[in-house]
Parts: sequence; structure tokens; C-alpha cells
Amino acid sequence: MRLRRKGDLICTFLLLTALCVLLYVQMYSVSPRLNKHKYQKESGTERNIIVESTEAETQLDFTSSAIQSEHNCQLGQQLQNAQGQVKTPPTSNLLPWNYRQYLWQKDCREFNQIINQKNKCHKPSGEQLLLISIKSRVEEFERREVARKTWAREGRVHNLQVRRLFLLGIPANQSALASWSRLLEHESQIYQDILLWDFQDTFFNLTLKEIHFLKWVDQFCPAAEFVFKGDDDVFVNVENIADFLADADPKDDLFVGHIIYQALPIRSNKSKYFIPEMMYGPGVYPVYAGGGGFLMSGHTAKRLYHASKEVDLFPIDDVFLGMCLLRIGLEPVTHEGFRTFGIVRPSAAPHMQTFDPCFYKELMVVHSLKVPEIWLMWTLLHDPNLKCARKGSMKRPFRWRIKRKSTSASIKKLKH
Ligand SMILES: *[C@@H]1O[C@H](CO)[C@@H](O)[C@H](O)[C@H]1NC(C)=O
Ligand SMILES: *[C@@H]1O[C@H](CO)[C@@H](O)[C@H](O)[C@H]1NC(C)=O
Ligand SMILES: *[C@@H]1O[C@H](CO)[C@@H](O)[C@H](O)[C@H]1NC(C)=O
Repeated sequence: MRLRRKGDLICTFLLLTALCVLLYVQMYSVSPRLNKHKYQKESGTERNIIVESTEAETQLDFTSSAIQSEHNCQLGQQLQNAQGQVKTPPTSNLLPWNYRQYLWQKDCREFNQIINQKNKCHKPSGEQLLLISIKSRVEEFERREVARKTWAREGRVHNLQVRRLFLLGIPANQSALASWSRLLEHESQIYQDILLWDFQDTFFNLTLKEIHFLKWVDQFCPAAEFVFKGDDDVFVNVENIADFLADADPKDDLFVGHIIYQALPIRSNKSKYFIPEMMYGPGVYPVYAGGGGFLMSGHTAKRLYHASKEVDLFPIDDVFLGMCLLRIGLEPVTHEGFRTFGIVRPSAAPHMQTFDPCFYKELMVVHSLKVPEIWLMWTLLHDPNLKCARKGSMKRPFRWRIKRKSTSASIKKLKH
């Protein structure tokens, strides 16, 4: 009797052990999925690329592999498996190539800095600093040159000390400009205005540029009172910006630009801005500023840096920043002086003189200009013989004001 009970006990024990082993093996083989759920919880963002429906089964598999890459992230190098074979991103017919690549690599978000300007933000005490940061690509040397020689000059503008930086990554096609690294070496030596990071300078990596820049400001330029960030094909009227900032408190939140409300993700895969539904479900984007040019206080830049660490990367950099703004609960302010879509010539007045310098005198940022246009605009505006009617009394052949409550305060400031 006793012997039998002992036998029973041993049997049960063995069975239990076997069960445990089985469970363990089972768990191990589905671990990427477990990881995925853990990851989702930790990241805690509202916008997850993961679709949790049965019809999206293929997507699920694919995204769980994308998340696995978190552990294999090797600074954008090709991923290798244990046998040393190069792994390629999982194939999916649902998305164009760049999205597959993007999702595959989106957890690689820390890259080395190759060229730095550690002393950029040194300034005379008691002065306020406006840091002008310009997204450029190595190939766009002419755009950098014209900005340096015109609107983005360093020095004093009204009561602000202006400093200039270009934000660059590694050219995606290095054979297009074989001498790119020597060019940057000399450019950065001569002008001391180049920041270069070790990621490919592509449209979908602009968000990487954003987060690395915010981190750089936090680390190397915490004293900047104000930060302007824009593209290299803009004309910025820095005098107007300095006027506008004259009575702004850099310790307050400030985020001004051309604000876009209620934008919907573009679902046509022909567009440069195409965002598949699995990446951003139905619903509008958070309020964001057109990336062509916007202005913020140093205080806000710092807060955005901390927020950016908690938000999943999103391939459109200005929408990404909108997500960060949402996270810190800051509503950006729109300003009619920011023309991040350029000046639209009304079809009713095709002869309109868009190069009337008086027209530009009141603007702060004009986007999508050619190099000669930037030069011409700056030169005309700084012509000592330029005479314009009183500010604000100019006749306009078409309406371009956007009526919004939030703008009135800042418009008033500009006009006075
Ligand atoms: C783009 O969309 C069309 C129709 O929606 C589809 O037929 C085509 O395969 C898609 N192209 C890519 C590259 O996904
Ligand atoms: C890279 O640039 C070279 C030289 O301009 C050009 O011939 C080549 O097609 C480019 N490659 C890609 C992938 O764009
Ligand atoms: C972003 O940069 C990384 C590192 O250079 C590169 O591997 C990746 O392909 C780039 N991503 C996109 C979407 O261009």
C-alpha cells in the first residue's frame, strides 16, 4: 500500500516535470510575441504600429520580427544571425520597401555623432542666444553657402546673438559626391557650423535628425534662449523673428510656426508622405508645425527632448514632433508670418509680383525657394534705398490670412 503510494508520487512528480519542460519549450518558441507585448506596455504610447486583429496575422508576424531587431540593433549595419548569415528584413507585400525597412529598423534610434561643435553656444553673458538650425544634406552645399552669406549670418540681430548650425547625416548615395567627407571636414573647419551624425540622410530618417538635434541642444546648448529649426530652402527674416521674440520669456513654453490642424494621414502609396494604416490607424494627426521652419524657446526644446525619448519613432519628422508636443501638453501657436508651403500665386493674378520685397518684409519664414531667390530676397530687403509703405498697410491682391483665435496675439506682436 505504502509502496504504491510512493510509486504514485514519483509518477506524478515525473509527469509534472515533463509538463514543465513542455511549457518552457512552448514559451521559448513564442518568445518574440511575449517580448512584443512587454514592449508595447513599456513604450506606453497611444500610437502603436501593431495591429491586433486576426486579418492582420501576417503583419503581426512581421512586426514582432521588427521588434526583435531592438535587440539586434547594430547602428544600421546589416543584421546577422547566429550562423553569420546576413538577415534581410522580412518580406511583406503589404508595404512598399522603405516602410518595411523603416519598421525593421525603427528601434535603432541612437547613432554616433561624427562632427560636433562643442563651443557653438558660448556667448557673452547677459546676451540672449537664438540658435538657427538648418536641416541640410551634404549635396546641398550651395544652399548652405547662401544661408551663411545672407539670412543665417552669425552675430547680433537686435538684442539677440545668432548662431547657425547645419544638421547632416551620411549621404545615402555616396557615389553621387565621392568627396563628401573631405568637403565636410573642410566646411566644418572653416565655418564651424556642421553637425554630422552616423545615420543615412534620407527622408524617412529626418525623425532621427530631430531627436539627435534635440539631444544635442540639451547637452551642448542648454543656454540657448530660443531655437529656430528649418529646412535649407527657406528664407528667414531674422530681424522679424528678433522683434517677435523681444518680449518673450525664454523660460516659458513657446512653439510658433505654421501649424497644421486635423491633418489626415495620406493613404495613397504614390505620395512621399504615404503612411499605411498599420502604422497609423484611422484618425487625424496631432496638431503639428510644418517642418519648413518653426521657432521654440530653449525651455520647450528641453521638454521636447525628454518627451521624444518616450514616443515611438514616426517617419514624418514634423508629425513626430507634434506627437511630442501632445505628450507634453503644449499647443503650438500658428503665425501667419510662417509660410512653410511657400507663397501660392493665386491663379486669378498670375502676374503678381512675388518678388516685391515689401511683401516679404512682414513675413518670418518663406519655404521652397531656389538658391538665387533666397539671395535676391535678402539683397532686396537689405537695400538701403528700399522704401515700403507703413507695415501692415500694404495692399494684398488675395487673402492669405488664416483666421484663428490663437494667432491674433502673435500677429499683433509682429505688427507693432
Ligand atoms: C499601391 O496601391 C495600389 C492600389 O491600392 C496597389 O495595386 C499597388 O500594389 C500598391 N503599390 C505598392 C508598392 O504597394
Ligand atoms: C548614385 O549616384 C550616381 C552618380 O550620380 C548615379 O549614377 C547612381 O544612379 C546613384 N544611385 C542611386 C541608387 O541613386
Ligand atoms: C536610416 O539610417 C540607417 C543608418 O544609416 C539606415 O540603415 C536606414 O536604412 C535608414 N532608414 C531609412 C528609412 O532610410
